[in-house]
Amino acid sequence: MNTERKATLNVDGKTVEFPVMTGTHGNDVIDIRTLGGKTGLFTYDSGFLSTASCKSSITFIDGDKGELLYRGYPIEQLAEQCNFLEVAYLLKNGELPNATEKTEFENLIKRHSMLHDQMTKFYSGFRRDAHPMAVMVGVVGALSAFYHDAMDFSDAEHRSISINRLIAKLPTIVAMAYKYNKGEPFMYPRNDLGYTANFMHMMFGTPCESYEPNPVLVRALDVIFTLHADHEQNASTSTVRLAGSSGANPFACISAGIACLWGPAHGGANEACLNMLEEIGDVSRVGEYIKRAKDKDDSFKLMGFGHRVYKNFDPRAKLMAKVCSEVLGELGLENDRLFKLAKELERIALEDEYFVEKKLYPNVDFYSGIVQKALGIPTSMFTCIFALARTVGWITQWEEMITDPEYKIGRPRQLYVGAARRDVPSIDKR
Ligand code: CMC
Repeated sequence: MNTERKATLNVDGKTVEFPVMTGTHGNDVIDIRTLGGKTGLFTYDSGFLSTASCKSSITFIDGDKGELLYRGYPIEQLAEQCNFLEVAYLLKNGELPNATEKTEFENLIKRHSMLHDQMTKFYSGFRRDAHPMAVMVGVVGALSAFYHDAMDFSDAEHRSISINRLIAKLPTIVAMAYKYNKGEPFMYPRNDLGYTANFMHMMFGTPCESYEPNPVLVRALDVIFTLHADHEQNASTSTVRLAGSSGANPFACISAGIACLWGPAHGGANEACLNMLEEIGDVSRVGEYIKRAKDKDDSFKLMGFGHRVYKNFDPRAKLMAKVCSEVLGELGLENDRLFKLAKELERIALEDEYFVEKKLYPNVDFYSGIVQKALGIPTSMFTCIFALARTVGWITQWEEMITDPEYKIGRPRQLYVGAARRDVPSIDKR
């Protein structure tokens, strides 16, 4: 890492220098770790607009070019040439598996896909109409109470077992959340199926008749998983890292990430986007909603548009639009009302000065809701699908943090703007 460049700061006539660090790609960063000691000042960067919270070698996004790389590989190539488990292996281990490693990893993940039987009791503690993300937060957090055989997180082998368990068990947990909500019996995993086909079996199969997943739809869902697998230091990943920085149990940290992902500004956007399309209802009303999205006095935003990092386009959105056409074609839904509406909304927004000027492009969530709806996944489950896939990224980022020699507990500073020091008055004087 090149630290020869320096950044100079002049504070009250005193000049202080800070090293500039250079990564493989992307913006250089000023190493201000000594700022407080040298000047007595902290930086203020609410929302982390200009702050790198860590060094990472997992994922890189070039927001201006619209580029996303996992371990250096472009997302387009990974989505085209690899399946989700190969991508999971890549994220976890840093390299793609060869044929033997791929088979071994698939078999290993299969052997971890069942949940401890007692975990099924957790589901019955929830109301049937509970949001499945609420169930996910609870059940994934509860994994921390079940796997005591691999709890020494300073041991690489124990960490690896926990990572494999998470990758393997998330589909089972998500499918069980769905079945519980529907009032249908839980389906056990089938080891003769691949990762994504097995997930579809657990979601849509019943004990009454056999379910044969459609390979085109399996492939589409698998690509959705790949597109959501990691996205560098976003809100939920930073949540997992911050929770994990105290040395907390990784299953509990992933539960914290799921809680963060649930919000409509993050992973909840695909659900919010589909609800928005339903609300707009018809192409004739698009103009009215575009007008609302531009109105400063209206809190309405076009869901599925805009991104903190992508200021050109979201490469995942392009791939998702392609998957969307394939799935709708396979199911004979090319004339789907919501798909047509989404296309029209996208066309109008992309020509509108407000969206062009603010560089607001469709993001991954714009089309993923339509694809998932076509696959038969109900709206309330969309964010669970995102969580299933992102678990791979979260736990890989957790592992990277835990093994970083520079790792410290996360502890941001603040600018205190509350009451100045004062004494507690007696009760008759308050
Ligand atoms: N519709 C209308 N105006 C928008 C939108 C939108 N979707 N997104 C941003 N703007 C405006 C915003 O009002 C602001 O205007 P001004 O400069 O006049 O104050 C300007 O664009 C910059 O937006 P921002 O909110 O300051 O940007 P941000 O980086 O803080 O927020 C965002 C990014 C994704 C939270 C935001 O664009 C948004 O809320 N989009 C809708 C929700 C959504 O689709 N989220 C999914 C993100 S992708 C999946 C994921 O990674 O989780």
